[in-house]
Amino acid sequence: MGYIRTIACGLSLMAMASCGNGGVQVASCSDDCTTGACECVAGENVSTDECGANVVIDNIMSRRSIRKYKDVPVAREVMERIALCGINAPNGKGKQSWEVRVVENREFQNEIKEVMALSGGERAAGSFYNAPVWVFIARDNSYDFSTIDCGLLAENMMLSANSLGVGSVCLGGPVRFILDSPEKDRVLSKLGFSDGYELCLCIAFGYPDEAPKAKPRDFGKVRFID
Ligand SMILES: Cc1cc2nc3c(=O)[nH]c(=O)nc-3n(C[C@H](O)[C@H](O)[C@H](O)COP(=O)(O)O)c2cc1C
Repeated sequence: MGYIRTIACGLSLMAMASCGNGGVQVASCSDDCTTGACECVAGENVSTDECGANVVIDNIMSRRSIRKYKDVPVAREVMERIALCGINAPNGKGKQSWEVRVVENREFQNEIKEVMALSGGERAAGSFYNAPVWVFIARDNSYDFSTIDCGLLAENMMLSANSLGVGSVCLGGPVRFILDSPEKDRVLSKLGFSDGYELCLCIAFGYPDEAPKAKPRDFGKVRFID
């Protein structure tokens, strides 16, 4: 997408000697936006790149679940930035009803694999797709909307990662494999969630070694009620 935009930007540069229409106060879209194929022109206070494309929407539309990673670590500062974006998600009553653990240590990751394999076999052991960074998110069981808080935090982390070139995949499988394992306490004690918190979601992060296409979305799930 970035590559295509670079070409488009270059062409319009040649045509107009400038491709900066960021900040234009037109908010209109060409074509049918339900297919994701339309081009929208920015309105006021909209983040646009040098070609006037909406960078936030491009980021959302280009994020895909990554299941093949390069054997390259993600720098601690990059993960800190991603985590900071995570905890800036909207959260019910401002309770921040989540706890997040970031595991980069290969030894501990191997131990988690062993524990998961006891409940789910080889499939479970591979459920983090060899990503270099594994994130574990726990919800506060005393708050009924905590799972939603955790989901919003997770999406903020995955989108900010995407904007930094870091791939991710949201994972429910490992939650089950860990919680169903007879040796789950080996993992949970090291993750060290507070009392009353329960593991509810995982995310793998790393530099993508694939570029999967978007799975089709059903816009029929959306209805405008007049
Ligand atoms: C709650 C949740 C649990 C998921 N669990 C897994 C999982 O265990 N393994 C996996 O490979 N992908 C998992 N995914 C990723 C979805 O399969 C993926 O988001 C979906 O197919 C849409 O693809 P996209 O993310 O590329 O748009 C999960 C996603 C969510 C939101």
